[in-house]
Amino acid sequence: MQANSSPDTAHIHIDLGERSYPIVIGSGLLGSSLTYQDIPKAAAALVVSNTTVAPLYAAQLTEALRHRYGKVLLVTLPDGEVHKDWPTLQLIFDALLENGCDRKTVLFALGGGVVGDMTGFAAASYMRGVPFVQVPTTLLAQVDSSVGGKTAINHPLGKNMIGAFYQPLQVVCDLDALATLPSRELSAGLAEIIKYGPIADMEFFDWIEANLEDLLAREPAAMAHAIRRSCEIKAWVVSQDERESGLRAILNFGHTFGHAIESGLGYGEWLHGEGVGCGMVMAAHLSERLGLVDKLFVERLTRLALRAGLPVRAPVLSASDNAGRYLELMRIDKKSEAGEIRFVVIDGPGKAVVRSAPDALVRGVIDLCCA
Ligand code: NAD
Ligand code: GLY
Repeated sequence: MQANSSPDTAHIHIDLGERSYPIVIGSGLLGSSLTYQDIPKAAAALVVSNTTVAPLYAAQLTEALRHRYGKVLLVTLPDGEVHKDWPTLQLIFDALLENGCDRKTVLFALGGGVVGDMTGFAAASYMRGVPFVQVPTTLLAQVDSSVGGKTAINHPLGKNMIGAFYQPLQVVCDLDALATLPSRELSAGLAEIIKYGPIADMEFFDWIEANLEDLLAREPAAMAHAIRRSCEIKAWVVSQDERESGLRAILNFGHTFGHAIESGLGYGEWLHGEGVGCGMVMAAHLSERLGLVDKLFVERLTRLALRAGLPVRAPVLSASDNAGRYLELMRIDKKSEAGEIRFVVIDGPGKAVVRSAPDALVRGVIDLCCA
């Protein structure tokens, strides 16, 4: 895929046989028709966005698509994790059916991870599957959620519990979109970037430590490098284990604790990336208590999370039995097996493994991190 290749545009290939696709990273991509030249033409395209992102970027994208599609439709969803649910998903199907969209219709997800996950799930299920393209506009979505084909909505009892594996045709990461991102969302995205260090690449972790100020200042070269390296690591993992039968689970470092925080507080109270940031610190403490890393590693990760603007103290979810509530929530996790919680822990910096841990040990970590 050579579309719109300025020298600064990076192309990463995600190798999944007939479901392979490119991730394109650069500036000025979202609103350029060249970016989409390899996407099949069809009678209609549906851009799915939300009330925050659509006013900023939908006109650019719609304009870029206009010459390839007879009709370019837009559906604008309510914004927020709390709307990652059935009634909101239904709005996408309503738009498709009310406009007579056939099975060649291409969906374009324009927004953060919430829009991306919901659009992907709609694409996976509308007429048993229509093509879709990810146009992520948050840092978190550019480095993680738009890549790899996990799509889902939440259930009140558990996060991302209903969904499908369904790969996009292309991922378009336009660095320019990050200019309007609120700082809190930037920090949330940094959590998923930091994650790639302890699980796969400590040299990248060193680089993040050294360049964090530039990332916080959204310096373009630093951003481009962080997004590219994150996508390379994610593409490498997903190419080996698309459906998470093993290796892919390492991408969930911090997520078991993080998802418990998100659902325990009520979706939207903490951002997903904030849950992951704090969850990584908790998982690092657990790794230490399992004898897999030393205290210095836990301190180093905690320091970086703090510098990135992430919370490292976990919230109290129950006044009566806080650790019990965490354990209850963490049992509703896709990695759980026969009710046994399985954690991604660090088995020496740069290497992650999935394993269970005695409840008493986990309770100790929760007590420590909530204190
Ligand atoms: P989000 O989609 O809620 O976006 C965060 C906020 O930023 C929203 O208010 C959004 O409207 C706004 N926004 C988006 N782009 C903007 C821009 N350019 N300028 C200004 N505002 C902008 O949250 P997120 O952090 O992008 O994604 C979190 C979601 O992703 C969670 O639901 C999580 O479960 C999911 N996720 C999925 C995967 C996966 O593999 N599928 C991986 C990680 C996270
Ligand atoms: N974000 C975890 C995964 O894609 O597997």
